[in-house]
Amino acid sequence: MSEVLPTGPSRIVETRFARAVAWAIGPRGLRSQTALRREVEGKVVVITGASFGVGEATARWFAAAGARVVIAARSMDRLLEVAEEINAAGGDAYPYRLDLTDEQSVTEFAAAVRYDLGEVDVLIHNAGKSLRRSIHLSYDRPKDIAATSGANYLGPMRLTLALLPGMRARGSGHIVNVSTVGVMFPNAPKWGFYLSSKLAFDWWMRAVGMEARADGVTLTTFYGGLLHTRMSAPSRWMRVLPGQTPQDAARVLAKAVVRKPRTMTPLYGFPSAVFATVFRLPLEVLMERIFRNLGDTEASLSRLRQPSVEPKFTITAGDDQAEVSTNAR
Ligand SMILES: NC(=O)c1ccc[n+]([C@@H]2O[C@H](COP(=O)([O-])OP(=O)(O)OC[C@H]3O[C@@H](n4cnc5c(N)ncnc54)[C@H](OP(=O)(O)O)[C@@H]3O)[C@@H](O)[C@H]2O)c1
Repeated sequence: MSEVLPTGPSRIVETRFARAVAWAIGPRGLRSQTALRREVEGKVVVITGASFGVGEATARWFAAAGARVVIAARSMDRLLEVAEEINAAGGDAYPYRLDLTDEQSVTEFAAAVRYDLGEVDVLIHNAGKSLRRSIHLSYDRPKDIAATSGANYLGPMRLTLALLPGMRARGSGHIVNVSTVGVMFPNAPKWGFYLSSKLAFDWWMRAVGMEARADGVTLTTFYGGLLHTRMSAPSRWMRVLPGQTPQDAARVLAKAVVRKPRTMTPLYGFPSAVFATVFRLPLEVLMERIFRNLGDTEASLSRLRQPSVEPKFTITAGDDQAEVSTNAR
């Protein structure tokens, strides 16, 4: 497959220096598709959040290696486009609508995939909903809870419960969780919804992985560093930092599936976790100071200027879709 050049925000950091730093920090992915093809050819690989960013790039890479890729997300139009392009290039892609915040959608998705394609060989939990917003801006926004916990924790949990039994019964399967290295950092104000839901799923999935390993099902957690996608784009300061492109991340996920390590992190991942634990108190004081001066994203502030009129405890698909079209705040 030809490498798709990054567009939009990722172009900003496409300097040689930034690329070199991102490569040095890692984690590094597979260089060629040969090993991936040996591993996934003809196999059913479910990729959530495949309408954009890392998920889309991963779908293209796995399909080019001969996998039967199930691509799932809420933006069906976008999935159909991606599937059409993959299929036109000789791949095998199956688009399905999936809203991880909706229990029925998850149940129906899992049942449809198993009915249409049989048991799943590889499950990549990639979909995610980021949120950086001061807590006072979320007082009257219950959908912040539902969107983040649904996409990052409850939805992936339900999907695992639906697909894991088939994997265990067959004695094989690999699950990849795309987490964030942010859960290894000192805790950060304004990121509470995102980081707590990512951390909760990480913790749950690791416990499940420890049980399932005995039945031949393995788990890799990829603690992604900065990834230049539409998710990180709204935070302007992130655009100038070295990070991985969606294509880099797709190769990391390919390595996860081929080599099946328990974890994949940037170089600073585990040292950060130790540092954050040992120096928790001074770091909390420091982070409080730093974040007090950071402000909120434009998207979050615009909601303050135009107070939301949505009903307090109802989330409509359309409303949430609009939220995610600009994703991170
Ligand atoms: N960007 C970063 O710097 C960074 C760093 C570390 C980890 N990560 C993780 O990397 C993963 C991929 O993110 P990305 O950077 O590629 O962001 P992205 O381009 O915004 O993609 C997120 C994907 O998740 C899907 N999604 C969101 N909410 C969903 C829901 N309720 N149900 C089903 N699908 C949903 C979106 O599709 P629809 O909108 O069509 O549903 C989209 O395809 C995420 O898990 C994220 O937490 C990102």
